[in-house]
Amino acid sequence: MAATLFSPYTIKGVTLKNRIVMSPMCMYSCHNEDGKVENWHKIHYAARAVGQVGLIVVEATAVTAQGRISSRDLGIWSDEHITGLKELVSLLKEHGAKTAIQLAHAGRKATVEGEIIAPSPIAFDENMRVPKEMTKADIEKTIQAFQNGARRAKEAGFDIIEIHAAHGYLINEFLSPLTNKRQDEYGGSAANRYRFLGEVINAVREVWDGPLFVRISASDYHPEGLSVEDYVEYAKRMKEQGVDLVDVSSGAVVPAKIDAYPGYQVRFAEQIRQGAGVATGAVGLITSGLQAEEILRNERADLVFIGRELLRNPYWPRTAAKELGVELEAPVQYKRGW
Ligand SMILES: Cc1cc2nc3c(=O)[nH]c(=O)nc-3n(C[C@H](O)[C@H](O)[C@H](O)COP(=O)(O)O)c2cc1C
Repeated sequence: MAATLFSPYTIKGVTLKNRIVMSPMCMYSCHNEDGKVENWHKIHYAARAVGQVGLIVVEATAVTAQGRISSRDLGIWSDEHITGLKELVSLLKEHGAKTAIQLAHAGRKATVEGEIIAPSPIAFDENMRVPKEMTKADIEKTIQAFQNGARRAKEAGFDIIEIHAAHGYLINEFLSPLTNKRQDEYGGSAANRYRFLGEVINAVREVWDGPLFVRISASDYHPEGLSVEDYVEYAKRMKEQGVDLVDVSSGAVVPAKIDAYPGYQVRFAEQIRQGAGVATGAVGLITSGLQAEEILRNERADLVFIGRELLRNPYWPRTAAKELGVELEAPVQYKRGW
């Protein structure tokens, strides 16, 4: 069988050798609390490149120190971060993987010391701090920080940039009416709540003409929150702005119980793909080759993002290939054991 999962995929001139994407996953492993790449990152990501993952999305990387989820997050808020990221990229490329980085700001979910910022002064829950409502100057500075992050990602040699607009972090906080109670042009209507993301995309596009992904939370799982229908409309705007792929996750905007079952977010990726006519990535409890192949063959998504299964098994592409009866080229050093 010729499996779609192992067919190449070209997006804006970048060809992935297969459709398997390592989903961004925070490692909280910058032990010096300076946002710099450490040995852990090099070993962890390179192992998945050796494992034949087509595209590796490096974890949420903070565009400002204040926008870190934790003090051990990776960072890209300074030119000093470029060297380590460049080394990481070259290691991954050496093993045939394409590379992406997720540019992030945690907004009200930041747990670092000092002031934290968000569109509105509402805490996530009783254990989290109340953020400061962002001023226009804060908004401008943060958009600039995303642009600076994109410029540094380009200098580091990444093939693809992903903007993190999901999981209740800063951009998602602007998008959702549950977390955005602003009275100015950044709050209120759907168009106003989109404005911040729209400006971030434009700012990134000024310095980056390569493939651009945006990760979203397609459902707030709350009656007054956003649903996939709202995100079909937002995805149309993203497409118009030159976003190449929408990476479709869900939840974490407000505390809500999520019924997670195999492929629980795939229907969102499918609906956005059809409704907005944009390429999508599916993610969430996708653990087998057959399941991934079903998603691609039925044109429910263009790429399959794998998270925890790749933590358990860096050689998951090999496992999936065996399941699908595909012969996967072994790294030459491993030929005798493949
Ligand atoms: C340890 C860990 C860290 C994560 N960090 C991020 C992150 O940095 N950015 C992000 O968008 N999602 C993050 N996620 C979510 C994953 O990318 C993925 O969407 C989620 O785990 C569901 O996919 P899975 O069932 O294949 O694991 C993280 C998940 C895990 C388990």
